[in-house]
Amino acid sequence: MLIRWVLAAIHLLALGVGLGAVWARGRALRNPLDAPGLRRVFYADTWWGIAAMLWIGTGLARAFGGFEKGSAYYLHNHLFWAKMGLLALILVLELSPMVTLIRWRVQLGRGQQPDTHAAARIASISFVQAVLVVLMTLAATAMARGYGVPRT
Ligand code: HEM
Repeated sequence: MLIRWVLAAIHLLALGVGLGAVWARGRALRNPLDAPGLRRVFYADTWWGIAAMLWIGTGLARAFGGFEKGSAYYLHNHLFWAKMGLLALILVLELSPMVTLIRWRVQLGRGQQPDTHAAARIASISFVQAVLVVLMTLAATAMARGYGVPRT
């Protein structure tokens, strides 16, 4: 099925984009935050957001749209729930960077220099999120190969 392949391809490409973007966001936040430095942060942050939308959109379609092993397989798979738990953690961790970076974008747009004292904290959060993405990949690849199914 073409759609199955397209969903799988987008899901995996989002991994490449998202992991690179969140790492780049962390690195950019540890560099000087003048106007070009801030633009590098926003660029990486935008791609991180795009990757998240692609992951969640294609992931939900694959899990519950009947394109892969069917909803029942995933809902009874421990590694699927581990993967969802890690995703939830990434999303909770993202709340503060999201609010802060939106504020910075608005301030820069108005020609004001944002107060960037939270940069080091958001950089650390970004690196933790990169590690969580790696753990999600370990859970996903095991789940796809039949691990995590409860013994009957
Ligand atoms: C709501 C969010 C998500 C859902 C519902 C979801 C669901 C799925 C499903 C159903 C598959 C196919 C597994 C199979 O072949 O049986 C899959 C594969 C995969 N997912 Fe996700 N996913 C989500 C987010 C993510 C994220 C954020 C990552 C980032 C690490 C990710 C990484 C992967 C990888 C690497 C595979 C490929 C596994 C393989 O074929 O070896 N997923 N996902």
